Amino acid sequence: DKGGWSSFMAKEISEEPEAVANTLRGRIRDGEVVIPELDGLDDLFAGISRIIVIACGTAAYAGQVGKYAIEQWTRIPVDVELAHEFRYRDPVIGPDTLVVSISQSGETMDTLMAVKYAREHGARTLSICNTQGATIPRESDAIVYTHAGPEVAVASTKAFVAQVTALYLMALHVGRVRGTVSAADAAAHVAELEAIPAKISQILEREQPRIEQFAHWMADTRSVLFLGRHVGYPIALEGALKLKELAYIHAEGFAAGELKHGPIALIEPGQPVFVIVPSPSKSGEMHKKVVSSIEEIRARGARVIAVAEEGDAAVLPKADEVLRIPLAGPFFEPLLAVVPLHIFAMGLATAKGLDVDQPRNLAKSVTVE
Ligand code: F6R
Repeated sequence: DKGGWSSFMAKEISEEPEAVANTLRGRIRDGEVVIPELDGLDDLFAGISRIIVIACGTAAYAGQVGKYAIEQWTRIPVDVELAHEFRYRDPVIGPDTLVVSISQSGETMDTLMAVKYAREHGARTLSICNTQGATIPRESDAIVYTHAGPEVAVASTKAFVAQVTALYLMALHVGRVRGTVSAADAAAHVAELEAIPAKISQILEREQPRIEQFAHWMADTRSVLFLGRHVGYPIALEGALKLKELAYIHAEGFAAGELKHGPIALIEPGQPVFVIVPSPSKSGEMHKKVVSSIEEIRARGARVIAVAEEGDAAVLPKADEVLRIPLAGPFFEPLLAVVPLHIFAMGLATAKGLDVDQPRNLAKSVTVE
C-alpha cells in the first residue's frame, strides 16, 4: 500500500527518518550502544584482526561509508568487497577475520555464496539484514537487523540509511568491547546518531520540493557526474547508481581527489557535476580540498550542484545550485547527503515519465549468481 504516495519510492524516501530511528530503537541506553542480538558474542569480536565487509550495489556503498567509522572507532582494518568479486579470488581469510555481510533482502545469491564461502574457510560472520528470517542471516554467526521496514521499490533508499546506522552501532559496540572507544566518545557519537532522523526530516521538508523542481529542469540531461571525498565518496557512487537505475542516464561517481588523474578530461561546458562538500567546520582540510576541486571543474565550464552544509558560505558563490543539509559531525554527514541524491534521482525519473518503482531489467532481490 502506497499510503497516498505517488510511488513506493516516494513513500520509502519519506520513511528515511524512521528507518534510522527504528534501527536505533532499543539499542541505546544511557549513551551506550546495547545490541541485544550481540549479547554473549563478545568472543566474536575479541580475536579478530580484520574485518571484510561484503555486499552488492547500494548495500556495498553503505559498507564503504561504514569502513571509515569502523576503522576509526575500532582500529581494526576494514576492506569492503563486492560479494561476487570476493568469492572467486581465493581470499586470504581465517578465524581472525570477521566477514560482515550487508543485504536488505537477505537473499542476494552473490552475497549468500560469499558468506558461505567465508564460513567454510574459517571466518566469523555477521549479517546486517533488513528481512527477518532471511537466508543470509540464517547462515551467519551473528545478526544485526536493520529496521527500515519493508522496502518495495526495486531501488534501495531507506534501507541504505538503516544499513549505515546499523554499521555505526556495530562499530561502536565493537569499539566499546575492545576498549578503543571511550564512554564519553561513544555517548557523543550516539547523540549524533539520535539527531539524524530529525535532520533528514528537515531536508525532506525544506529541500525536497526544490530538488524535485530542479530535477524537472534537468530532465533532458544525458550524463551526470558525482564527486565526493572520504565518506562523501561512496555517497557520490550511490548518487550515480540511483540515477542510472531510475532515470537510465549515464552517471558516474568519482573520488574528488582522483579528478586530476583522469576524470577531469570529461568536463566540458554544461556538464552537470554533483559535489558532496564536507563540513567546513568539522572536516578540517578536506573542505578546502573539495572546494578547490569545484574551482577546477567550474573553470572548465561544469555546472556545479553542491550538496553542502547550511552554514557553508564558501560554496555559495562557486556553485550553480546548492542543496542544503544540516550540520552533522564527521562520519554522520553521509546519512544526510544521500537524501538529496535519492530525491533527485526519483525526481528526474519522474520528470521523464518513468516507473520509479520498477525500473527496467531489474529485480528487487537478485537470487541468481
Ligand atoms: C540499488 C539496489 C541494488 C541492491 C543490491 C543488493 O538501488 O537496489 O544495488 O542494493 O542488489 O541487494 P540486497 O541489499 O538485497 O542484498
